[in-house]
Amino acid sequence: MGTPAATGAPVTLTIDGVAVTVPGGTSVMRAAAEAGIPVPKLCATDSLDAFGSCRLCLVEIEGRAGTPASCTTPVAPGMVVHTQTDTLARLRRGVMELYISDHPLDCLTCAANGDCELQDMAGAVGLREVRYAAPEGGAMATHFQPRTHTGPNPQYRPKDTSNPYFTYDPAKCIVCNRCVRACEEVQGTFALTIEGRGWDSRVQAGAAGEDFLNSDCVSCGACVQACPTATLVENTVIETGTPDRAIVTTCAYCGVGCSFRAE
Ligand code: FES
Repeated sequence: MGTPAATGAPVTLTIDGVAVTVPGGTSVMRAAAEAGIPVPKLCATDSLDAFGSCRLCLVEIEGRAGTPASCTTPVAPGMVVHTQTDTLARLRRGVMELYISDHPLDCLTCAANGDCELQDMAGAVGLREVRYAAPEGGAMATHFQPRTHTGPNPQYRPKDTSNPYFTYDPAKCIVCNRCVRACEEVQGTFALTIEGRGWDSRVQAGAAGEDFLNSDCVSCGACVQACPTATLVENTVIETGTPDRAIVTTCAYCGVGCSFRAE
């Protein structure tokens, strides 16, 4: 959450009126967590380098213009941070509204129902309605203006079921890059990348046209564990639902660190 790892001299700042002292180089998001103040987030995790792509973790810093991402903003001595203002609430709802506007709304039958960070964050930021029309091929009910983009969402591509252990559903991808970063930073495999730009962005295993099974993917499961939605889901979860409890054992035989899960 908000890496790189902090090792600098102690820095004291104030977040929502709470004084907190953390090592220099710590992100504002991690400092807030240290102070017991949760900040909405989707692309940040405790184990991956900060990426700053989801724009949910915006904060206001006195004396500084704009609303920087707290996961990529390092603390500074005497900094005064606000994480809960009317402006931030409006901005976060707007960001989440855009995410939901082209996300399938099959929550009740989705494998990740109840274990979905997108679902959790939509609730956390108080999103109650979405004003934008669904893209062609999308599944989103709408209210007000039609969107200006008229082509099909490139993420609505067929599921990749080539891997025997997990399924990749591009329709549910929010392009947070967590799977790509997990593949690189956790496993050092570099099997995944983001293909395209903007609207055309999507996760790609291997070269264009390859699937997971025929890519360099070693089926370690790091990407599946990193995914905040049901884009990458274990096949056992799809078939039998999310278990009440599971024991995950990481194999130490080689550097890949494959995980085995008993439910
Ligand atoms: Fe900071 Fe995503 S959590 S931008």
